[in-house]
Order: sequence, then C-alpha cells, then structure tokens
Amino acid sequence: MAEPKKLFIKTYGCQMNVYDSERMAEAMGAEGYVTTDTPDDADMVLLNTCHIREKASEKLYSDLGRLRPLKDARPDLKIGVAGCVAQAEGEEIQRRMPLVDIVVGPQAYHRLPALARNKGPQVDTDFPEEDKFDHLPQRKAMRGPTAFLTVQEGCDKFCAFCVVPYTRGAEVSRPVARILSEARDLISRGVREITLLGQNVNAYHGAAETGDWTLARLIRTLAEMDGLDRIRYTTSHPNDMDDDLIAAHGDVPQLMPYLHLPVQSGSDRILKAMNRKHTRDDYFRLVDRIRAARPDILLSSDFIVGFPGETDAEFEDTMDLVRRVGYGQSFSFKYSARPGTPAAEKPEIEAQVADARLQELQRLITAQQRAAQDAMVGREVGVLYEKPGRLPGQMVGKSDHLHAVHVTDPDAKVGELVRVRVTGAVTNSLSAIRIS
Ligand code: 5AD
Ligand code: SF4
Repeated sequence: MAEPKKLFIKTYGCQMNVYDSERMAEAMGAEGYVTTDTPDDADMVLLNTCHIREKASEKLYSDLGRLRPLKDARPDLKIGVAGCVAQAEGEEIQRRMPLVDIVVGPQAYHRLPALARNKGPQVDTDFPEEDKFDHLPQRKAMRGPTAFLTVQEGCDKFCAFCVVPYTRGAEVSRPVARILSEARDLISRGVREITLLGQNVNAYHGAAETGDWTLARLIRTLAEMDGLDRIRYTTSHPNDMDDDLIAAHGDVPQLMPYLHLPVQSGSDRILKAMNRKHTRDDYFRLVDRIRAARPDILLSSDFIVGFPGETDAEFEDTMDLVRRVGYGQSFSFKYSARPGTPAAEKPEIEAQVADARLQELQRLITAQQRAAQDAMVGREVGVLYEKPGRLPGQMVGKSDHLHAVHVTDPDAKVGELVRVRVTGAVTNSLSAIRIS
C-alpha cells in the first residue's frame, strides 16, 4: 500500500477556524492524507488564517516566509492558504508570495481536494450556491470527548470595525436536521460535550419542517439526546439573547453556566459609533436577566480599546462597565483599522494612548479572572476529563464554568465526567479532588 500523504494544518484565530480545519483535514483524509504535527515532513501545508486584526493577518506572511526553505528543497510541497485572509486578499496572496499553490475561502473549502489535485496556482474565494457541509465527509471526533459543531456562519450586524461580514459573508443558519444528525454522529463517537458555533450563534434560525427554529429550541432538543451531557454555544450578540434562550440557562441542566457575551465598549457614544445598536444600560439589564435565570453563570466578553475618537472619559466608561458586571474572563484588543470597514475611514487615536488603555483594562480583567477562580475554591463542580495531565496519575478537564482543572485520579479515563471539590487556584487553572 502506498504511504499516506501528510498534511500539516496551522489554525489561526477563532473556534470557527478550529472547526473548519478539522473539516478540511477530514476532506483531505478522503484523498489519502493523514495529519502531521510538523511542516517538515508534510506533503501539504495548509494555513487557516484570520483577518480580524492587522497583526493576525501579518502573521500569515511571516509564516509563509518561514516555509520558503522547505518549498525550495521540495518543490512538490503544496502550500495552501485558507480562511479569512484567503477570502479578503484572494490572488493577491500569490502575487506577494508565489510559493502559495492554493488560496481557498471559508465558504469554498469543500473544494480543497479538487484544488489540491490540480496543477498550477489555484484560487477559489466563491460564495457557492451549494452548501459546503453537504459536500464534506462524515465527522471524525478528533478532540476527545468535546467537539465543536458549526450551526451558523457569517454576520449581518456590520459593526463598524469588523471584517467578518465581508470575509464570512451574510448570516446563514444550517438546517436543523443536519445539525441533529451531526450531533448524533459525534455522540456515537464518544463526544459528551458539544459547543455550538457561529459568528452570531444566538441569531440562529435554522429551517425545520415545522418552520424556523431558534437556538434555544435547538439546545432544548439536543439536551434530550442520550449521551450528551454538556452544551455550550459561542459567540453571542447581546441583541439576540431572546427570552427562551435566557430561560434555557435556568432550566436546561446540560447548558453549562458560562456565556461569552461581547459588549466591546462601555460608552454609549462609542457603542453607537461602532454600530452595536444597544446601550450600556441595555447590556446591564440583559446581564441582570441572565443572572436571574442562572445565578452562578460566569460571563466573558470582548473589548476594543482605542476605537477612533475614544476619549479618556469614554474609556473610563468601559472600565466602569467591567467593574460593574464582573467577568470570569475577558479578551481585550487594541483597535486595528481593517481595510473596507467604515471605522477605517476615521482618524486613529494615538498608539501610545491606546497601548496604555489596553494595559489598564487588561490589569482589571486579569484581577477579575483571578477573583473568579479564587471564588471557586471549596465549591463542588463537574469536570469532563479531556486528557492526561503532565504529572503521573493526573487528569485535566474543563469545569462546568470552563475553568481548566487538574485532578489526581490515577484510574480515571479520558471522557469521564466526574464531580470534584476545588482545592486551589493558580494563574490559569484550578486543582481539585474527585468526590464522585
Ligand atoms: N480591531 C480590534 N479588535 C477587533 N475585533 C473585531 N474587529 C476588530 C478590530 N478591527 C475583536 C472584537 C471581536 C473579537 C472577535 O475581535 O472584540 O468581538
Ligand atoms: Fe463582527 Fe460585530 Fe458581526 Fe461580531 S457582531 S462578527 S463583531 S460585525
């Protein structure tokens, strides 16, 4: 039998890309490729890129530069660029970096095997009529007991700073039946936790025979599947948190008490300039309702500092919002002008000012994260073991609240869902003892 060919995939950016990379690996698997964890012995290198901030985009070009000696030594090595930079820059990538053989956008990657079979430079950044998911091989659970499942793609929100509506296209929800069958398939392969993914996952409105379903309805139906113990979803927009979804946080035990709910800024003027279509008070009210439904929920958010025109007082409004909400975790970014977005037309604020604000916000976020971890000490939580830890007899998994937890449990197996009591907190994880 011929040696299988080797595929190295590097994934940048969000969890949607992690999911897409798995699906591309499966598609190439049907062509006789197996994945490898180094580019050195690969027959094909695929970089699945992110365009969200300038730094993320530039990373592609420095990584391509580093691949040049490999390509010089082995001209047969195929190099592909997938994801949002591929979509945004298309053949420009090959002009700048002629070593790139294939450029494929996020809506066309089911055609990757065909592109890889062809000779010469290949570019496919279509938004095809057909649904790529119908043209991909069956899922393989590749990450143990947890899996991502993309239910929705694209975005119609057009936040003034964001490239996603341009690179990922308009909001599309996958039909209910397909999602349920993909979920069943994952469960049959040992998956116990599914994270439903979408750029605006709570705007989900997938077609079913009985009319469109909301995300809440989808979650309630998944919760009835035997063997599925945990459900999460990300990323959400505050304006799409409907009553039923909020209620589900209170009455669906499988829906885990962690919610990523980006607000971006705490200033009403900046929120308006960002085209977020909600105020800070709307957000506070929403947080109150979610916490009323599920008091122990941990919230996380994304923040952008240094949006064009942001004043010191407006930045202080963001700090104030963070203090008032109290997050379990948060992600903060310095504003990065993205070509083609409305905000990119506006003059930027001084880089030093934005840097100082980012540092100040990150100090607060880190302190809150630490406080949320410390508050877990002494509590009983569920942990799903994902892999053995570094120490002998140790297991690592995620708690209900998405904290990484280390447990000494020599006879345990990956995929077990256990109850633990948290005994300590360090910078990025908790330690715990198993109680059942
Ligand atoms: N500059 C900085 N951060 C951005 N994000 C999106 N676009 C930009 C940009 N142009 C951040 C937002 C979003 C997260 C995924 O990335 O906070 O929620
Ligand atoms: Fe980008 Fe806003 Fe859409 Fe999120 S909601 S993907 S930040 S445009």
